[in-house]
Order: sequence, then structure tokens, then C-alpha cells
Amino acid sequence: MYSHLNLDEIDVTKEAPALEPQRQYYFIARLRQMTEQQSRREGRKLTSCIRTFGCQMNARDSEKLRGILELAGYENTDSEEADFVLYNTCTVRENANQKVYGHLGYLSGLKKKNPHKVIALCGCMMQEPEVVEKIKKSYRFVNLVFGTHNIYKFAELLVTALESERMVVDLWKDTDKIVEDLPAQRTYPFKSGVNIMFGCNNFCSYCIVPYVRGRERSRRPEDIIAEIEGLVRDGVVEIMLLGQNVNSYGKNLDEPITFAELLRRVERIEGLERIRFMTSHPKDLSDELIEVMKHSQKICRHLHLPLQSGSTRILKQMNRRYTKEQYLALAQRLRQEIPDLSLTTDIIVGFPGETEEDFQETLDVVRKVRYDSAFTFIYSRRTGTPAAVMEDQVPEDVVKERFQRLLLLVQEISQEMSKRVEGQTLPVLVESVNEQDGSLVTGRLSNNLLVHFPGTKDLIGKILPVYLKECKGFYYLGEAADLQ
Ligand code: SAH
Ligand code: SF4
Ligand code: F3S
Repeated sequence: MYSHLNLDEIDVTKEAPALEPQRQYYFIARLRQMTEQQSRREGRKLTSCIRTFGCQMNARDSEKLRGILELAGYENTDSEEADFVLYNTCTVRENANQKVYGHLGYLSGLKKKNPHKVIALCGCMMQEPEVVEKIKKSYRFVNLVFGTHNIYKFAELLVTALESERMVVDLWKDTDKIVEDLPAQRTYPFKSGVNIMFGCNNFCSYCIVPYVRGRERSRRPEDIIAEIEGLVRDGVVEIMLLGQNVNSYGKNLDEPITFAELLRRVERIEGLERIRFMTSHPKDLSDELIEVMKHSQKICRHLHLPLQSGSTRILKQMNRRYTKEQYLALAQRLRQEIPDLSLTTDIIVGFPGETEEDFQETLDVVRKVRYDSAFTFIYSRRTGTPAAVMEDQVPEDVVKERFQRLLLLVQEISQEMSKRVEGQTLPVLVESVNEQDGSLVTGRLSNNLLVHFPGTKDLIGKILPVYLKECKGFYYLGEAADLQ
């Protein structure tokens, strides 16, 4: 691995090396030279701000982008008045796109005040050609646009943009490349996401992710283990293994391994306390995985298992490749084998052709599985996906009314389920000082529920037993067990 120190040893007067990641470290060194010069001119440190829209994959990508900016000499800030602003965008639903356009309007005002401001856009939304056309036409103040496949080239692209008068746009349709060993600047010192795979091959008919994230590629287990070992040396106690469908991990590697086997290997890493993962596709969830989870000391008691719809007919239209009955049988097996497991899900309301009967099937699954919590989404039409051109798009008022009914049911059950551990004393990983009340700290149970209890900031990053005094709907008030 490289560090700040040997950036100084890179000769930036020479040509850039062809090999990765060396090439990117060369450009980070060049970037650092440029920021130092501008810093001296302005008599202050340059600042950068990254805003993340979207899922944990994007959040992890942002940490990598931040790592590069930090090495290059930028000071990280939350304010969009920064010298360099980067939006890491999401396009999974239309409102994600609208948010980005809204923010861009605000940025344009800031840029008028500070013409030296540099603005960049990256992430899933940029993989859509119509979006990029719109940006080129209507948001000409943007300096740099890149996508999800060439994110590792960020330092190189930023150098190009800083040296150019015009908008720099670099987008790749797909890639089979995985570049290892680039820096990352973590948001939390004690926990981290770890990509185990990129892309998705499932093509659920409503979903744009396979089009903007490309084909499924798994990282080699050795690289994943080495990264986690490094994180643990650095103070990380909890990791979240990230992939659009972790259950199909490793299938296309030269030496194929299963996700369950990867978990076994990760479990053996000394000093690592908690393992989480996201997301599991029900069609690929194996008995082997249930076994590994059941006997694990480190894998958290939480499984996110997106349902999407409870109607077998709609599931078929969605290309989900399981039936209502198969899903229910899987959920039942999980509840039986791992009774303290928290089961959460994603549900889409208003997929094209969804009838009241179909919707009732969804409510039925919610009642039978009794989710600990559920994310509910109104179907959003994504250009280029098969569902976008399906007939019978459901009218907005019908969808909204169904959505409300679903939300009420999900919340009612979720409150009851959250209460399950009231009165118990369970380990909590402390994450932060409570935002509303500074005398409390906030932590997370293995099952992902939040707990607030009296404590001080030196507890952050520690795992300690907490007595779960009172369930307040979706979270707990507790007391550190040794204070009782
Ligand atoms: N790979 C994960 C989830 C990726 S997107 C999985 O398969 O579960 C996260 C969630 O967004 C999905 O589970 C789905 O519920 C929702 N989603 C995806 N596309 C959507 C669309 N077009 N409209 C509404 N919700 C959508
Ligand atoms: Fe989208 Fe389906 Fe892939 Fe999840 S599994 S990212 S919902 S296509
Ligand atoms: Fe959004 Fe891309 Fe994630 S579309 S949900 S940020 S993979």
C-alpha cells in the first residue's frame, strides 16, 4: 500500500506510469502539487465537499473519492461552498434524480459568486446518456462528469478537468476491471463497508441498477480478507460486506467460492467483532448460508431480504425468480433456525399491472413474515427497463392509497417486533453522541435496532452490554449494564 510519505517520491515531471494503481498515485501527487500552489496563492487550505445520494455502494465509493482528495491536500467539509464539490448520484428512482437537479441549481448560484469553484458529478445517474445530454446542455458550469466504472481514475480525471477550460466527460459503458489498493477515507473509524462484488446480473424488470453498474464482478477472496485485516489493524470492529446480490458472490471467479465460504473466512479474522452484509436476493439464499449464520459468533442477527411483491404473478413480471410460497418457506426456515434474527425487506407498490388482489398478497406476506422493518417504495418508471414500457401502469392515486395502507401495516408490525428484546441485556456498538441529547450515546444492537443510553463520547467504537429498558417504537432507551 502507498501512503502520504511515498507520494513525495513520485517524480511528477516524468510521464504517468501505465500500470494501476501506480498511475493513480502519480496523478494524486500531481493533484497535490496543484492544490499546494493554489493554497499558497489564496493563503488558505483548499476545501472539498462530497455529497452522496443513494445506497451503501455509493457511500463506500464516496469514501474512496474522499481518500483521494485528502491525499491530494483538500480539507474535507460538509459545506457546498467548498472549492471543490462532487455529487455522487443515484438513479434508482426518479426522485433521486430530481434531488440532484435541484441541488445543481443551488450550486450554480454558488459558482457565480466563486468562479474558481470546481464542480464534478459522478455515480449511477451519470451512466444514463439522457442525463449527460441534459447536463451538457443545461448545466454547463459543471467541470467534470464521470461514471461508476471509471471511478478509480478520479485523480487522473480531476487533473485533466483542472487543466481544461471545458467540461470533461468520461463515461464507460461497462468494465471487467477491478482496481485494488486505492486509498479511502472512512466516515466512521470503527466500522466500514467492504465491497465484495460490483454490478448485477439479475435484471429485475423495474430496476436500472444493472444498466448503470454493469455486469456482476466478484473481488478475489484474498483481496477482501487483506482489506478487512487492514481495516481491523486500523481500529475497525464492524464491517458490512457490500454487493447488489451477495448470495451470488464468487460464482464467476477463476476459483469459484460461495458467499457462505467467504463468510467463514472473514469470521476467522482476529479482532473483527461484527459482520453484516447487504443485499441478499431470496432466489440465491442457500442452506449453507443459513448454517453459517446460525453458528457464527460474529455475523449480526439481521438479514435484509427484499420481497418486492407478495404476488407470484407480479414477481414473475418483475423477473424475481421466486414465488410467494418459496419466499414464505425461506422466511419461515430463517425464523425457525435463527429465532433472534431480525428480518427486514424492500417492497415496491404499484408495479405495472398490480391489482388489488396482487396487493393483498403483498399484505399477506407482510402479516405472515412479520418484518422487523421494511422499506416501502412507490414504483418509479425507469427509462430503458422492461417495466417502463409495460401496459397497465397503475394510476397515481391508487398507488398512493395502497402505499399508505402498506406503510400502516408495516409500522404496526415493526413496533411489535422491535419490542421483542425489551428487558434483555445485549451488546451494543456505540456509534455516536446522541444528536438531540448530549448526555446520551447512540449505538446499534446486533439486530440493527438503535439504542440510546447515558454515556460519553469515549465509548464510541466500543461494544458493551446494555440493558434495554424501554422500547420506544423503533428504538430503545437503555442503560449500560455495569451502571445498574
Ligand atoms: N440489489 C438490491 C437492491 C437494489 S435497489 C436487491 O435486489 O434487493 C434498492 C431497492 O430499491 C430495491 O430493493 C427495490 O425495492 C427498490 N427499487 C429498485 N428499482 C425501483 C423502481 N424502479 N421503483 C421503485 N423502487 C425501486
Ligand atoms: Fe436491481 Fe434486482 Fe439487481 Fe437488485 S437484484 S440491483 S433489484 S436488478
Ligand atoms: Fe442508487 Fe446506484 Fe445504489 S442507482 S441505489 S446508488 S447502485
